[in-house]
Amino acid sequence: MTDDSARGLAPSTRAVTTGRPAAEPGAPVNPPIVMSSTYHAGGAPEYGREGNPTWWAFEEAVADLEGAAGALCFASGIAAIDAVLDLVPAGGVVVAPAHPYSNTRARLHELHTGGRIVLREYVAGPDADIAEALDGAHLLWVESPTNPLLQVSDVVALARHAKACGALTAVDSTFSSPYCAQPLTWGADIVVHSATKYIAGHSDLLMGVLAAQDADLLAALKFRRVMNGSVSSPFEAWLALRGVRTLAVRMERHLANAAVIAERLRAHPKVDGVRWPGFADHPGHALALATTGPCAIVGFEAGTPEQAEAICQSTTLWTHATSIGGVESLIERRARYAFEHPDLPPSLIRLSVGIEDAEDLWHDLEGAIDRCVP
Ligand SMILES: Cc1ncc(COP(=O)(O)O)c(C=O)c1O
Repeated sequence: MTDDSARGLAPSTRAVTTGRPAAEPGAPVNPPIVMSSTYHAGGAPEYGREGNPTWWAFEEAVADLEGAAGALCFASGIAAIDAVLDLVPAGGVVVAPAHPYSNTRARLHELHTGGRIVLREYVAGPDADIAEALDGAHLLWVESPTNPLLQVSDVVALARHAKACGALTAVDSTFSSPYCAQPLTWGADIVVHSATKYIAGHSDLLMGVLAAQDADLLAALKFRRVMNGSVSSPFEAWLALRGVRTLAVRMERHLANAAVIAERLRAHPKVDGVRWPGFADHPGHALALATTGPCAIVGFEAGTPEQAEAICQSTTLWTHATSIGGVESLIERRARYAFEHPDLPPSLIRLSVGIEDAEDLWHDLEGAIDRCVP
């Protein structure tokens, strides 16, 4: 669909130009939503679980932004993650961060406890030590920055190390979005996103997507999608592609707002432990600058867990809800979930900084902190 010469264009341009139908007289500018479970015999796809033209348009756009040979969309981010974990042979070793997204961790532990995989955990960060854990490993899982502790790892070094040990590297790059990070170009084999977040960008759908360079790897992952039936609706793929069109402008605004909110939080006398890779003293700052950029998620602690919870319930512009990456700002105390890692500070509040006016956001948040923390 897209002219290969687009590869030389800036990401913000490619986000607008990729995944379009051929420019022919009378052809639509946008890909149509193809609602069909089956297709006339003799072509591809034959059946809706194998492929869909609207998925293809979205997948082409993600592959283009990630610098990948191909991409595959899934029913959700966790479905895409599961397809990758399915590639590990029975009893195979997976090396993964100790504090990744809660359901990634839950799934890894479930597979480990059931004897399907052997899980070896490492502490993510610039100095993540995986040397011993990688011995005999099949898959290295990386999440950078991590949810919600915002640990930034050296994807280039980790992927190089994994390759030398014969392990595949998969990176959950959801917090960076394909606008800020291209882990495949840094040596990873697979990049995974919850497209529910920044890619779609409007908190109105669930989707996952992964991208890879290797044709055999893509074919194996596609087979997992067919077998698991973890397919996306064509309408959601269409909406997600519409989200891709504005990814660059949204990310720029998310990042600019996050910088304002993080700095103001740090200067607030009732606030502690502000986490944001954009701070010069964040352990992952140099790496973040060199690779992903600072990210638009900010963490902070304020008062007791009860007071932190009250802050989340007291804001009016910041919506008290889980998830990240939509245009609207969200606030949540992650330790409210019993399934979250016990290491999380109980008063840690995660902010998904949206694209509203930064002063309005700060005014609302500051008011909530001042009301709820004596
Ligand atoms: C980093 C990360 N990866 C994966 C997922 C799972 O995505 P989904 O909710 O689309 O299944 C999430 C969801 O919050 C996430 O934050």
